[in-house]
Amino acid sequence: MIIKQVSLGFVCGITSTLPDTGQPEIAFAGKSNVGKSSLINALMNRKALARTSGQPGKTQTINYYHVNEEMYLVDLPGYGYAKVSESVKEKWGNMIESYLHSSQTLKAVFLLIDIRHDPSANDKTMYDWISYQGYQPVIIATKLDKIKRSQIQKQVKRIREGLDVAEKTPIIPFSAQTKQGRDEIWDLIEEFC
Ligand code: GTP
Ligand code: MG
Repeated sequence: MIIKQVSLGFVCGITSTLPDTGQPEIAFAGKSNVGKSSLINALMNRKALARTSGQPGKTQTINYYHVNEEMYLVDLPGYGYAKVSESVKEKWGNMIESYLHSSQTLKAVFLLIDIRHDPSANDKTMYDWISYQGYQPVIIATKLDKIKRSQIQKQVKRIREGLDVAEKTPIIPFSAQTKQGRDEIWDLIEEFC
C-alpha cells in the first residue's frame, strides 16, 4: 500500500454513536500496551498520529484513521488494564463489543499478542469471540525486536497453542521498531478490503 494521505477520521467515546463510515474498516484489538497504536503508526508511516504510551491504558476511545480516503484503520482501547475501575472496564468492553458487532463495513479484526508472553484468558476470549462473529482472525505477534531470532518460532508456536489457532490462521511477527512484518500485514489488509 502506498500511503498518500492519513488523518484521524472519527473518535468515539463511551457515549458516542458509532459512525457508519461506508468504507472498509480493519480493527486492531489486544491487551493494553501490546502495541496497537504503534502498529497503526507503522502502517501509516507516521511516528505519532496514533498516540502511544509506555503506560497501559493510553487509548481510551475508538479511533478511526482514514487512509488514502478509501479505508479506515480502527484503533481499539486495550483490555486487561488493571488501573481502571470495574465499571469503566465494563463500559469499554461493551463499547468494543458493540463496535465489532455493529460495524457494517468491518472486514477483519487483527488480534495483537506480545511475542514474549503466552496469551491470557482475555486474549483467548477475544480470539474466540472474533471467530464466533464470523471474522477470520489474524494474529500479530508484537515487539519482535525484544526477542532473539532463535526464539521466534518457539514463541509463535506457544501463541498458536495458547489460543488454539487453526493451522491456516496466520500469525505474523511484527516490530514497530524495525518495521519487520509491515508489508505482510498490508498485503493481508488489502486482500480483506
Ligand atoms: P493502549 O492504548 O494502552 O491499549 O496500548 P497500545 O496497545 O496502543 O500500545 P502502544 O502502541 O501505546 O505501545 C505501548 C508501549 O510499547 C510503548 O511504549 C511503545 O513504544 C512500545 N512498543 C510498541 N510496539 C513495540 C515494538 O514493536 N517494539 C518495542 N520495542 N516496543 C514497542
Ligand atoms: Mg493505544
